[in-house]
Amino acid sequence: MSKIETIGIVGAGQMGSGIAHVSALAGFNVLLYDVSAASVEKGIATISGNMARQVGSGKLEESTRKDAMAHISAAATMADLAAADLVVEAATEDETVKRKIFAQLCPLLNPEAILATNTSSISITRLASQTDRPERFIGIHFMNPVPVMKLVELVRGIATEDATFESAKAYVTRLDKAITVSEDFPAFIVNRILLPMINEAIYTLYEGVGTVDAIDTAMKLGANHPMGPLQLADFIGLDTCLSIMQVLHEGLSDSKYRPCPLLVKYVEAGWLGRKTGRGFYDYRGEHPVPTR
Ligand code: CAA
Repeated sequence: MSKIETIGIVGAGQMGSGIAHVSALAGFNVLLYDVSAASVEKGIATISGNMARQVGSGKLEESTRKDAMAHISAAATMADLAAADLVVEAATEDETVKRKIFAQLCPLLNPEAILATNTSSISITRLASQTDRPERFIGIHFMNPVPVMKLVELVRGIATEDATFESAKAYVTRLDKAITVSEDFPAFIVNRILLPMINEAIYTLYEGVGTVDAIDTAMKLGANHPMGPLQLADFIGLDTCLSIMQVLHEGLSDSKYRPCPLLVKYVEAGWLGRKTGRGFYDYRGEHPVPTR
């Protein structure tokens, strides 16, 4: 089992910045990389804002926030990740994008470094086979928002060695997260169950069974969900939701996973949820307003 002290993170979006946030708070050195320096700066600003919120609500001491922020560095180039013991890829949920990243990244890494992906649905075995280290490759799947959600799914590919699994387990345990182990099948456990529910909520809207407000209120008050399924879809990102449904549909060849045409339409419009200002709700005003 290798000792992990420095974490490289590829992708400074909502998941990458969340992973950097919790890793830095646990005392790891974090190198945050994205395609543009502006994206990394934006990610670091998000982390700083979220930690400030935690200080505001008494969850964090100001000195702990300062210490944690000092553990995060912007990686100017991918080559800077050579110092990492573990690299977590948290780029867009698109297999082509991830493959390109691995092709560029692997020759730069320490041969002993572990490579992990935060994919929410794609086969770990298939992604691992595109790298030079399938035995040191693993799925470490965080939930959004990473600083708040307690769970991390660990997913071994067919070639993942025990030592890699144990190192990943030790890393996640140090983050004070709970672990569930999932076999490497499309969308693993959480998204295999959650995304068909969200897709069904979109069908419920598409077929006119209820309005956005009616559907979300029904599930919040009728099933005690913290967010309605359409609100949660906007929170996850509709492009990510669609891509997970496509992975389930293609990977399991079952029509029960067909993505709702209304979800496809929102994605085609570029209405991807909170991150683009519009999805099933319009977030551009003071309060979110349903878009249908
Ligand atoms: N960083 C740090 N703290 C955060 C945060 C962030 N990004 N987002 C929220 N918080 C904190 C807030 O500061 C607040 O803390 P206090 O209680 O100390 O004030 C607390 O979380 C609650 O936040 P809010 O008061 O703003 O709002 P809320 O009570 O509505 O909770 C929520 C927000 C935690 C997101 C809650 O609505 C929730 O649990 N929603 C469901 C989230 C979910 O299902 N996530 C899984 C998505 S699926 C996934 O991630 C897998 C995938 O691959 C797609």
